[in-house]
Amino acid sequence: MRIRRELVGRADETSLVEAAITDGHRLVLIDGEPGVGKTRLLEHLVERAHAAGRTVLAGSATEFERLVPFGTYVDAFTRLTDAAPSPPAEAALRALLSADKADQLDRYHTYRDIRSFLAELADDRGVVLALDDLHWADAPSLELTEFLLRRPPAAGFTLAIACRSDAVPPVVGEAVARRDPRVTRLSLAPLGEDAAALLMPPEVDPRRRRLMYRVSGGNPLFLWALLDADDRRLSELAEDRPGATLALEQTLLAVLRRELDRLSPAGRRAAHAAAVAGELASLVVISHVAELDLAGTAAAVDELCRHGLGTLAGARFTFRHPLVRAAAYDTCGAGWRVAAHARIADHLRGNDGSLALLAHHTERCAELGDERAARTLGDAGLAYLDSAPTTAVRLLREALRVLPERDDLVPYRGVLLTGLARGTGVMGSLTESRRILHEVIHLPHEVASAAVAFSSVISRMLGRLDEARALLSAQTRKAGDDGRVRAQLLSELAAVAMLRSDPGGARRHAHEALALVSKTTDPALEAAAYALLAVACLQDGDLAAARAHSRRAGWLMDSASDTALVPHVELVAPLSWSEISLNRPADAERHLARGIDLATRSGRSYAMPYLLIGQAQLRTRAGRLAEAIEIAEHAASASEYIHSSETLAMARCVLLLPVLWRHGVDPAMTLADSLTAAGPGSAWWQAIAYVSVARVRLAGRTGGDHPQPPVLTRDTEVERLAVQSIRAGADGDVGTALERSAAAVEAAGDLPYQLGIAYDARARALSGHDDLPGAVAAARIAAERFGEGGAVVERGVAHQLLATVHGRMGDVASSHAEIGRAKAAYRESGADWLAGQLTRVERRLAASGQRHVARETALTKRELQVAELISQGLTNREVAEQLQVSQKTVETHVTRIFSKFDVRSRVALARRLASRGDRPASG
Ligand SMILES: Nc1ncnc2c1ncn2[C@@H]1O[C@H](COP(=O)(O)OP(=O)(O)OP(=O)(O)O)[C@@H](O)[C@H]1O
Ligand SMILES: [Mg+2]
Repeated sequence: MRIRRELVGRADETSLVEAAITDGHRLVLIDGEPGVGKTRLLEHLVERAHAAGRTVLAGSATEFERLVPFGTYVDAFTRLTDAAPSPPAEAALRALLSADKADQLDRYHTYRDIRSFLAELADDRGVVLALDDLHWADAPSLELTEFLLRRPPAAGFTLAIACRSDAVPPVVGEAVARRDPRVTRLSLAPLGEDAAALLMPPEVDPRRRRLMYRVSGGNPLFLWALLDADDRRLSELAEDRPGATLALEQTLLAVLRRELDRLSPAGRRAAHAAAVAGELASLVVISHVAELDLAGTAAAVDELCRHGLGTLAGARFTFRHPLVRAAAYDTCGAGWRVAAHARIADHLRGNDGSLALLAHHTERCAELGDERAARTLGDAGLAYLDSAPTTAVRLLREALRVLPERDDLVPYRGVLLTGLARGTGVMGSLTESRRILHEVIHLPHEVASAAVAFSSVISRMLGRLDEARALLSAQTRKAGDDGRVRAQLLSELAAVAMLRSDPGGARRHAHEALALVSKTTDPALEAAAYALLAVACLQDGDLAAARAHSRRAGWLMDSASDTALVPHVELVAPLSWSEISLNRPADAERHLARGIDLATRSGRSYAMPYLLIGQAQLRTRAGRLAEAIEIAEHAASASEYIHSSETLAMARCVLLLPVLWRHGVDPAMTLADSLTAAGPGSAWWQAIAYVSVARVRLAGRTGGDHPQPPVLTRDTEVERLAVQSIRAGADGDVGTALERSAAAVEAAGDLPYQLGIAYDARARALSGHDDLPGAVAAARIAAERFGEGGAVVERGVAHQLLATVHGRMGDVASSHAEIGRAKAAYRESGADWLAGQLTRVERRLAASGQRHVARETALTKRELQVAELISQGLTNREVAEQLQVSQKTVETHVTRIFSKFDVRSRVALARRLASRGDRPASG
């Protein structure tokens, strides 16, 4: 007997579904007990979304494949591309499936890509993503779903989820609890008696109908399962209709198992084979697994369809409901099931099947000591490390469990263990990762060294540099004469020293590494060592050496093949950092682009934050603020994904200035506060954070202290001196301001950006000292140097400073011109907040310009005489004598003159008079 296909009851729910589609709700959650009709209602939603012209993606999770990564999404995108192929859908599918391949995408990238493909698919029609049976979703699919909920890809994006009430994923639950009007929750209750009656075939008599309703409690699936039950069984079941979900499911399963008992032996075998095969259940596979010939299989599958247990679409059999499959899976016998999984694994091996499915079936039949199974699981685990670390860790554990304990397999065991450590480390269980690495450290040194180098990476990401250093030093001693291995460990040591602001140590280790590398012909490793050397020289203030090493590193990196570069890709970050500092933005750009591409393709997710941070810094310098912010935020999210507190703090550091310039003091201060609370662990980045936070605080004219870095290196010295100078000037301490700005100029060497920073501070100090012509000259140099250094925003700031000083000098025309230049620079760079501030400055200047003119022309004849004598260097007494007035009177005149000219010293007054071309400076 068959149940009706059209939807019965559910009038309220369907109208809410209609509204959610029309209004483009963000989330629709359909929940309820097993079999209550969630899938059915979701199907209805999908039909309605199609009818409304939306792009629809529908995928479902399955109970027995919940360990296959991204299964739910692969299903959705496969169905979409089958129905209507489109480039974004195909690209999305490739991204999801590439988790299979050796050069997979890393997890965070996969999420971002899927998100942008969905945005593309949404275009202006909107997109509905319907995910069914989410209670069975694999962990990566759930994470991706959470990601899409937190960051919806487009305005017209609707996520529709069907899920059992007791397994609603936490983020979905939270979204529903927030009572957002764009979220709809449909908690399905069992059907009422009338609706249930509509589901039953008309020939069922009223007494039986009532009994069935009582037993099923209005649960449609239960009703269907009862259709063929005899009266005695119905009465038995009526005694205790279970209330709880679990009990309901058990009862349903029991009922369904009895359905299966009624099949012929071949039919039952086919059902069992199809249950184990899942989405692979074609006639050929069923025949292979059930060990039936093809004709027998076809007859058996027909029998299943006749009993309403499932349908055949093309050559593929699908069960009518997941619970039917579960019942079949349960009843096939544990031993037979293991053998069935092994037969499917064989089939997949013979047919080049997906590594994901192969691993899934292998996992279910792997025996201790089975090397082939161990390698399948191990290779799959290694391939998933970055895209689906949870899955990877599970597969690697299983691989290690079954891998035979043989001497020749020790290196492979080491590789698996290192992978396992990487997976657990990336997932944030550092202690677990460290424990595993300890196991590896006892293995032969080639394997151990890779593990130690990786553990140093973990420690660096957590800002635990002492730990990294200790491990590396110990391993370097053990590493013996293998030049390559030693060079690698020494480079890592140099990186740690660089972060500790120990340029001497970094130079020493890098030189040692280079001495070994020259014998190995590994250009990428050599490039890495030179890059570290370049940064160490910058930290030492040895610019000539920094230039030479940075160029050499860049040249070597350009000549290294992708394969050679991948293991050292993270060290593109220090290279580009040196190139940015040494004013070679084009080189930095090229190297970062390649590094990011390689890190993405090779799944080295831990390298991404470093590279993105370099790129954000480059964009900030070039005045591409919107991009800089986006990239730095991307670096921050990528850091959160890999639980790297250190790169998170670094990303926030590089966010400070672009956020300040674009969005203003408040958001920048919030960031600065987060850095005060949880700043970088490395001394070098503490120094970088220190100067950046100080610049933000200066802009906000707020005090408050950010912790001073423990070690100061030369690369941040100019900025530090400049900040101190400007701060002293703001406090009225003109002497200190002048002295610090002079020191900054001295320290800047010949680097344009540094010179710009120093002369900007110099100009401010001179302006505070009322040396306005001096201030103008210094600010001009600042603007020019910033221009040379490609620092668009800072150049704008220097022009703004020039405008203010010209304004103070009463030179309205020059002031206007400078404002125009500042404005253009801010507009070009997207420095919206600065542009807003500038408008205010402009208004103030216009007003005070008029005041200046008014005041200065209002100088009395006598005042003018006094002013001119004073600027010739006469004392008050001498002026009094010459004009034949009392000294007291002269003092009064002087006070007035100072006030009218807005100056505080006689020298300044002289300069002011000299700069007013319309008046003679003397005579
Ligand atoms: N309102 C309805 N009208 C018609 N048929 C329905 C209705 N609700 C459910 N059914 C049918 O009852 C069966 C079970 O429903 P469905 O598969 O939607 O349950 P479910 O809540 O998704 O269960 P599970 O929790 O196991 O996923 C299906 O065959 C479905 O077509
Ligand atoms: Mg369902």
